[in-house]
Amino acid sequence: MPSELDKSRLAVADEVKFDTFATIPELCDHAKQYKAISRDFASDTVTAPTKEMYTYALQASLADDVYFEPTANSLEKHIAKLTGKEAAVFMPSGTMSNQISLRTHLMQPPYSVFCDYRSHINRYETGGTAFHSGAHTVAVIPSNGNYLTLHDVKQFIIQGSDIHLAPTHVIALENTLGGAIFPQEEIIKISEFAHKEGIMMHLDGARLWHVAAETGTSMKELCDPFDSVSLCFSKGLGAPVGSCIVGTKDFIARARWFRKLFGGGMRQIGVLAGCAAYALNHNFPQLPRVHDLARRLEAGLRELGVRILGANTCMVFFDPTPLGIEYDEISERAAKLPEPVTIVSSRLVVHIQTEDQAVDDFLALVKTIVEEKKVAVFVTSSPPQGESSATKKIYCEAV
Ligand SMILES: Cc1ncc(COP(=O)(O)O)c(C=O)c1O
Repeated sequence: MPSELDKSRLAVADEVKFDTFATIPELCDHAKQYKAISRDFASDTVTAPTKEMYTYALQASLADDVYFEPTANSLEKHIAKLTGKEAAVFMPSGTMSNQISLRTHLMQPPYSVFCDYRSHINRYETGGTAFHSGAHTVAVIPSNGNYLTLHDVKQFIIQGSDIHLAPTHVIALENTLGGAIFPQEEIIKISEFAHKEGIMMHLDGARLWHVAAETGTSMKELCDPFDSVSLCFSKGLGAPVGSCIVGTKDFIARARWFRKLFGGGMRQIGVLAGCAAYALNHNFPQLPRVHDLARRLEAGLRELGVRILGANTCMVFFDPTPLGIEYDEISERAAKLPEPVTIVSSRLVVHIQTEDQAVDDFLALVKTIVEEKKVAVFVTSSPPQGESSATKKIYCEAV
């Protein structure tokens, strides 16, 4: 006979249980999701793990990473070796990697972080540099319009003992930034100067993989000028979660401490490290195809007369307004295609799961809209002979 306690336990177990998949079956249709992802230009963060990635990752060890996780540890060792640094630590996100890197470099205010005004650290980390590190951010517009130079650094870093000012302790660069590759010669010049002045160099290398894949430069060479680098597995490389910080042994030991303090100590992450390793093996080699496809997208838009604001590695920034076309019109029409295409802004991101057909369909849609605009300016006088009054208001080149 079940006791009263047994009955209560069964009742509680009944309350607790939950079949998540049954509640949203249509949203778990993977074939449909992979299709949507292959036609989504919003970001490379939309890439999804594949069965092959998960199958590989399931071989991972099952230990608790707050103590010691062998698969995560072997990935960290590989990334440290690849980047020519002494050590690495796996992180849950690129934002945490950047913020913990800064926090680890910065000891006692007053101090400031120097960066590009467009950088992720400045714009998209919720003001984390001030919150976590108590640091002022000096966000600079590159004088050449493209990338920060040593000249910009010398002009805007803060040095000296003026008590009104917060001295620059870290220069944080980003490569790629908006898909653009930062010239390595300039990075080296900035780094040599910074180190002479006792300033630390951090790199947000969320998409540094693209630089290595595009230029054939080794990850070590790209990371050499920096004291710390954050590398993401969950963007261009298509893993579901994860980043790594690399640096000296002491730096990484301190970063681990801060990771725990930030609540980022993780447990059975072998499977995540396994996904990241799969991404290095199978997805990194796909990046040149991604860049070629982005170039095709750019060329197609140019051919249609669309203004290109910037196009590098996996990203194309476009402006259709000179053709009398608004972004919203394109995104709304793209969403209504028989096989919808997702665009959310002037930034189009091509990723390892983008299908060629998505680029063709998007270009075909833009072509259709451009052609519609050409006949959309209404002419109220001199309609072509023989036209009925109902069709008088047509036929004029808008562009
Ligand atoms: C350049 C760059 N750095 C850092 C991040 C932050 O990464 P996460 O979204 O994993 O926090 C992003 C996110 O897209 C990014 O584009």
